Amino acid sequence: MNIQSIEPQAEPLSHTWVSVVGARPQFVKLAPICRAIERHNAQIGEIPIDHRIIHTGQHYDRDMAELLFEQMALPLPDFNLAVGSSSQGSQLARMIQRMEPILKADRIAWVLVYGDTNSTLAGALLAARLKIPLAHIEAGCRSFDLGQPEEQNRIVSDHLSQLLLAPSAAAMQNLCREGIGGENDPQKRVSLMVGDVMYDALLQHLTLAEKRTEPKLKELELKSGEYYLLTLHRAENTNNRRRLASILKTVMSLDLPVLFPVHPRTKQVLSLAGISLNKKIRAVPPVGFLEMIALEKNARKILTDSGGVQKEAFYLGVPCVTLRDQTEWPETVACGANQVAGTDPDSIREAVRGQNHSDWSKFSVYGDGNTAVRIVDQLLANRPF
Ligand code: UD1
Repeated sequence: MNIQSIEPQAEPLSHTWVSVVGARPQFVKLAPICRAIERHNAQIGEIPIDHRIIHTGQHYDRDMAELLFEQMALPLPDFNLAVGSSSQGSQLARMIQRMEPILKADRIAWVLVYGDTNSTLAGALLAARLKIPLAHIEAGCRSFDLGQPEEQNRIVSDHLSQLLLAPSAAAMQNLCREGIGGENDPQKRVSLMVGDVMYDALLQHLTLAEKRTEPKLKELELKSGEYYLLTLHRAENTNNRRRLASILKTVMSLDLPVLFPVHPRTKQVLSLAGISLNKKIRAVPPVGFLEMIALEKNARKILTDSGGVQKEAFYLGVPCVTLRDQTEWPETVACGANQVAGTDPDSIREAVRGQNHSDWSKFSVYGDGNTAVRIVDQLLANRPF
């Protein structure tokens, strides 16, 4: 399969791939890709891939960035754009401006973008402008709410990519509906169902995470199965003071203690809005990836507005209540692992009290844990030059 929308060039093949990451979940997605590239490069007779990492600096606190690089033994980024936080427009503009000389300097075979953050959008837009082949990992996910920055980032990145690596059949259907991939796509984009790299990441770190369980639960004075785990950071929840206060009030009325690793965005909003928490909620700073898996695995239920956490709950066999009106992971709902409760207090309480009606361990809808190897193989097979 060849990608024909990029003009063929006479120069020799380039083996330089550039990953653009910047936000916490992207470091998680990057880890299995690094492992798969290392594996390829260790094979005798294969031309090694020169993999470079651009960290935009969208997330910059130690516990949002550096800690994850350490825990997942990620290679240090080759470039840190240090964009930091600012308005949506300035953050995107800085990413694009600072990334441009890097992407222009070398002949690059692939720019890889991950998921749906502003770093994804910046990488995608610039690669397209510079006519560098673009691959989107976690392509095709849709919430169908165009008001969300993440949905805008997904749609633009997908439409600009030459290689679309979808995590599920539903994501493939979304791409097909938008005319991406398949024989009739005039842009000749290639879409492939490869599975979820986050499943790879979870499996690769589960044993290490399990070792952290006992000390972490002890430190937090929690017992396995006797707490709820809460995460809350999406703009649609945090940027609406009444909505955020209402969710937290509901959570504070639940029957078990609630462990709440607080995202910096949420922390800022809580303090500006003067929202205080009662003793039911154990608010702690963001935790590392290994601790997060351990805490997810031992929770009675997980309440979240994060896409990644919904999937991790599904993989770990822990029931999830999604504090949003939609999900990009409909398979988790269909098999009974996840209830989309929105933010209405009664719906949240009902979802937390309710029994999950099936054992979903038999559903392997997001691949087999070898997605990253498949992605590297496809990037090599579809190499445009
Ligand atoms: C971003 C993604 C979101 C993803 C999330 C994972 C976009 C549009 N959103 O949201 O899809 O689920 O990452 O965490 O890209 N801040 C710090 N320290 C940090 C990072 C952020 O204090 O290390 C604070 C800043 O005040 C900043 C705010 O958090 O203004 C929000 O950061 P932002 O870059 O907008 O992204 P997230 O809300 O984390």
